[in-house]
Amino acid sequence: MDTTSVWRATAPGPGFEPLQGDVPCDVLVVGAGITGLTTALLLAEQGRKVVLLEAGEIGSGTTGHSTGNLYVTTSQGLSSIASAWGEPVALEVVRRRAAAIDFIELQCRRIPRAAFTRCGHYQSARFAQDQDRIHKEREALSRAGCAVRMEDSLPGGLPPPSGSVLVLPDQAQFQPQAYVRELAARAARAGASLHEHSRVLELDAKARRAVTGAGSVSAGEIVLATHSPKGVHGVHAEMPVHREYAVAFEAGGVDPGPGIFWWQGDESLSIRMHEHEGRRYLVVVGPQHKVGTHNAKAALMAVEAMARSYLDPGPALHHWSAQNYRSHDGLPYIGRDRSGVLVATGFGTDGLTWGTVAAQGIAALLAGQDDPFIERCSPGRFTPAKGARALLEENATTARALVQDYLTRGQQEHLSSLAPGDSAIVESEGEAFAAWRAPDGELFAVSPVCTHMGCKVHWNSVETSWDCPCHGSRFRPDGTVIEGPALAPLQRRQLTLG
Ligand code: FES
Repeated sequence: MDTTSVWRATAPGPGFEPLQGDVPCDVLVVGAGITGLTTALLLAEQGRKVVLLEAGEIGSGTTGHSTGNLYVTTSQGLSSIASAWGEPVALEVVRRRAAAIDFIELQCRRIPRAAFTRCGHYQSARFAQDQDRIHKEREALSRAGCAVRMEDSLPGGLPPPSGSVLVLPDQAQFQPQAYVRELAARAARAGASLHEHSRVLELDAKARRAVTGAGSVSAGEIVLATHSPKGVHGVHAEMPVHREYAVAFEAGGVDPGPGIFWWQGDESLSIRMHEHEGRRYLVVVGPQHKVGTHNAKAALMAVEAMARSYLDPGPALHHWSAQNYRSHDGLPYIGRDRSGVLVATGFGTDGLTWGTVAAQGIAALLAGQDDPFIERCSPGRFTPAKGARALLEENATTARALVQDYLTRGQQEHLSSLAPGDSAIVESEGEAFAAWRAPDGELFAVSPVCTHMGCKVHWNSVETSWDCPCHGSRFRPDGTVIEGPALAPLQRRQLTLG
């Protein structure tokens, strides 16, 4: 299945050459999503010599697979932040996220294809039991100074909600891939050296040095804008990793106009419209699933079926999914880790706005400015008691994945009988194999042991990848790293088939 998002399909752009040779710089930024590119642009504009390394292409991580929605609240609800951290922090979250949206709006004035639009953010419930959440959110947003209102219905073509609709005005949406492509061009014009297809294979935080396949970078500072920090890192134990699945339909008769529409509850959906060259798309994103513990194809099909049961869209044109790392206490991790490297992670599904907040915070920090909010977001911060329970539960899941996966043996079928498109984890002669047969018949076999911290990977049938349930590393069938904290590929296995 083609898993190119509607954003990546409709915003092509020129590429950047891979890194060659050994390069010194002031700041190395790893990752060319919205966080890395905003950071690179701001630092290059400060006059610093910046090198940016991207394992894939501009926006090919989560940014190009996001919703393109910008809002001052968070997907877990501002009420959860107010509850864990107190109302002054919830107020600061709104203030910082609003400032980030203003920043993006300012940049977009010169990027017409980013299609930045101010719009309302609508939260409603499909079922009566989910109304409570809507009212809690209304209260938290009101206390944080937001001009929210309640309405009885949703705009054109959207089905009637159960109860009232919470409307938060003056939020925004845009085309995220078009935006980051332009940020890349501007960062390059400001003097930054950008390199795509330049995966970091080794990272020496102490020596501030990163090695790729064809070069290396020595830097005064390193910023890991990789969605999840590379290598073994304390915050990995604190961040549940989820995937969500998206479908872009031909809009058909559905036309609510600009707006961010969230249906809260068990069957949660996020809905928005997008228009490109006269074609109208209905973008629908479904609930979150823990990485490596679900059937990806079934999850994607469920989103399509849910959308069709509530709405009346045309054919499905694009399918994709995205991974997110959620902090346990509602705030992102921004700042220096113990090794002195700067990290930006834990954004949950709110990364377009948090990524911009993080880039602004890191640029200010490197300019020597004090910022109490960014200090509060430090990766080494104290865990509020109210977030600790979720953290303990999450760690229990990870521990189960580490231990149980080695006790539960995989299927014992013969690899030679795998049909094209099928995968299996197989024990053969005392060795474990994660095998997948490509549609053309070629059989790929790798070790199922994740090279990050040793969990066992699971097959993702939508994106033909091996996904690790513990901290979200993902690998191609040949073992190459796609994303996540793992630096090394899964070990290739030699097969002797009878
Ligand atoms: Fe950490 Fe796999 S991502 S063990």
